[in-house]
Order: sequence, then C-alpha cells, then structure tokens
Amino acid sequence: MKAVTWHGRRDVRVEDVPDPTIQEPTDAIVRITSSGLCGSDLHLYETLGPFMGEGDVLGHEPMGIVEEVGSATGDLKVGDRVVMPFQICCGSCWMCDRGLYTQCETTQVREQGSGAALFGFSKLYGEVPGAQAEFLRVPQAQFMPIKVPEGPADERFLFLSDVLPTAWQSVVYADVPEGGTLLVLGLGPIGEMATRIALHQGFRVISVDRVPERLARAKARGAEVIDLDAVDDVGEEVRSLTQGRGADSVIDAVGMEAHGSPVAEVGQRVFNALPKRLSAAIMGRVGLDRMSAIYTAIDAVRRGGTVSLIGVYGGETDPMPMMTMFDKQLQFRMGQANVKRWVDDIMPLLVDDADPLGTELFATHQVPLSEAPEAYENFQKKLDGTVKVVFKP
Ligand SMILES: NC(=O)c1ccc[n+]([C@@H]2O[C@H](COP(=O)([O-])OP(=O)(O)OC[C@H]3O[C@@H](n4cnc5c(N)ncnc54)[C@H](O)[C@@H]3O)[C@@H](O)[C@H]2O)c1
Ligand SMILES: [Zn+2]
Ligand SMILES: [Zn+2]
Repeated sequence: MKAVTWHGRRDVRVEDVPDPTIQEPTDAIVRITSSGLCGSDLHLYETLGPFMGEGDVLGHEPMGIVEEVGSATGDLKVGDRVVMPFQICCGSCWMCDRGLYTQCETTQVREQGSGAALFGFSKLYGEVPGAQAEFLRVPQAQFMPIKVPEGPADERFLFLSDVLPTAWQSVVYADVPEGGTLLVLGLGPIGEMATRIALHQGFRVISVDRVPERLARAKARGAEVIDLDAVDDVGEEVRSLTQGRGADSVIDAVGMEAHGSPVAEVGQRVFNALPKRLSAAIMGRVGLDRMSAIYTAIDAVRRGGTVSLIGVYGGETDPMPMMTMFDKQLQFRMGQANVKRWVDDIMPLLVDDADPLGTELFATHQVPLSEAPEAYENFQKKLDGTVKVVFKP
C-alpha cells in the first residue's frame, strides 16, 4: 500500500510499504478514507527527528471503513464506518477506567517513560505505524473505533480523532469563569477549534496568531484577534482589553514550534546538525524548546487565572519561570487529550445538521497521499492558505 513515511528533517515521502495484517485477536484493519495532517506532525518533521526511524509511517488522525477484524474485537463489524483516537488505549485498565486514555497502562511505552502509545509518533510513543496510509492496523479494536453514522461527509466526524477532543479538553481545562475572557494563543487547527468551542459556549475569546488567513477565520467566527506581528507586547495588549488584569484563562495552542525566539531557533538548527544518537540524548535530557508562547501565556493571564497547555513541549528541564508561576498562583493543566472522555459531549454537535462547529468546511485542503511532501511543506510554512489538510488515500 501507499503511505507517507519519514526520512529526515523536512523529508517525508510517499512510498510503497507492506499492507498491515492482523497480529493480535484484538486487531482490526481499517481502509482509510480520510486522514488529518496535524501540528504534532510538524514536531516530527522538524524538531523530534532524533526519535524517528527512517521509513516510519506518519499520521494519527484517521477515519475509514473496517476491512478485517480479529477474533476478539467485540461488536466491530467489517464495513463499519469508524474514527480512531490518536492514542491507542484498551478501555479497561485503571487509567482508562478513569477516562485517562492517554495514560493507558496496557499500551504505555514504559521503556521510554511515556504514556499510551500513539499512531505514527516516534519511538517515544511506541513507533506504531501511522494513518497517513491506505490501510491502518488498529490495535485494541474491541474498544478503539468510534462508530459514526453514514450520511454526512467524513469531515463531519474525522476531527473526533484529535482536533475536536483536544480543543474541547483545552477549553474544559482552561476553566473559564462565567462571563470570563479566554485568550487563545495560536490559531492552527487546535487553537481555531478551541476558539470556536469557547465562542459556542458563550465566552469572550481573544485569539492570537500572525498568519492573516488564520486571524481572519477566527474573526469571522466572532473572536477578537491580535496579530502577533502588529503589537510589541501581547501581554500589554491583552491587559488593555481586560481592565488591566489580563485574561481569566489562557490556552497555549502553539507548542514547541513557536515563532518568536530566534536564539532558540539557532540552537535548534545547531542541535539538528548533531549526529542522531547524540542529539536524541541531548534532546531527552535538556530540551531546546521554543518557549515563547508559554511565556506569553504566563504573562497575559490575570492573577489567579488558569493556563491550559495543549501545545506539545518536549524535553524535561526547560527553564520555566517558576517563581512567577508560583507568585501568580496559577493553575496549570496539561497533557494529551483523553479523546474518548469527550466524545459523548461533542457528538450531539456533530449529528446536528446545522453543524454548529462548522466541521464540514473546517479543512482547507483535501489532497491525495501523493501530495504529502508539498502538503507538509505548505502546512509548516503556512503557504497557500493551508490551515487544515486532510489526506484522501
Ligand atoms: N495535547 C494534545 O493532545 C494535542 C493534540 C493535537 C495537537 N497538539 C499540539 O497543539 C499545537 C498546535 O497544533 P496545530 O495542529 O493547531 O498546529 P499549528 O502548528 O498549525 O498551529 C500553531 C499556530 O501557532 C502560531 N504561533 C506560532 N508562534 C506563536 C506565538 N508565539 N504566539 C501565538 N501564536 C503563535 C502559528 O502561526 C500557528 O498558526 C501543536 O504543538 C500540537 O503538537 C496537542
Ligand atoms: Zn494530531
Ligand atoms: Zn487502558
């Protein structure tokens, strides 16, 4: 089958790889009909290279049709239309029982000290073949697939794999008080969807980015927007819009590909030039992350406010401004989204034909797998109006 594979920094290819097969009784094989390209893939494309293997299949936002089932996949049937969460989880361990699916104790990647295995996401998360491919082996298929109704286009449901539950969780974790103001940093797919959800829930939303069409999309949904490049200081700007206090809650939907810290960017490039084994060791220990968005979040939140961190950061000893975080008495909530925890909350909005979150028209680009190299580049560089790409294998 055809699949999008990783070959190095900014080098993805479309290649023939062996078709996946059933390996465990709980496996299923799904024929992929739509598969998202995510900001998290950009970390693999750029920053997390040291943890990738040449030829790894990318992608973790899949939906499709069940093609084959193992002998222990419950009521899953060939022909079912399904969306898969980006994390692989069993649904019945101690963590899954508590809705903490990204910590699943059955699939945790213990050798790496990581939580649940993820599709297409480096050795850190189990090096499980990903979903930007014609077929996908779905482990834990007695629990994983989210069955969705026939009828509406894939895009109505596809984003249940990642964007919707991630954005939803970021809004829940932001804990915006009644009548409060939410600041959303980053208007990639995650920040934009968080903006839409928070507006739908009736909050005042101020969203920040520097890409004109991303700002325009958020503004069109009713957000106030701040262009990163048009202001000297986002924190000051936010305070001027909030009686000098700052936002009640802030969502960092940027993560470690943040724009705005040239020193770190240079460090990153030097670091990427190191031999692979050496750079993996350094990355795990030190981390050379770009912290500008999180610093902005800490600055722009009001005292006693909440920061909801949904953008992904790597490395464990980043120099965090701990004193300010403590002094400002912040609550930090972070972690990968627990997809299945939120599906019942979101589904009513998706089966509503008014499509209140605008999911059907959310993707800006639908492309065949063969155009993956160009799609990755355009998404990373924000070219050609690219906000959300969906592959159609
Ligand atoms: N926690 C989870 O479960 C989860 C799931 C999916 C994605 N993510 C993460 O969410 C983040 C966003 O993903 P995405 O798909 O929206 O990707 P994206 O890369 O398209 O979005 C990031 C946006 O942030 C903007 N930006 C960069 N620097 C900024 C700054 N200093 N201030 C404000 N905006 C800035 C960029 O212009 C871009 O529009 C990534 O880190 C991704 O890994 C996390
Ligand atoms: Zn994703
Ligand atoms: Zn589990």
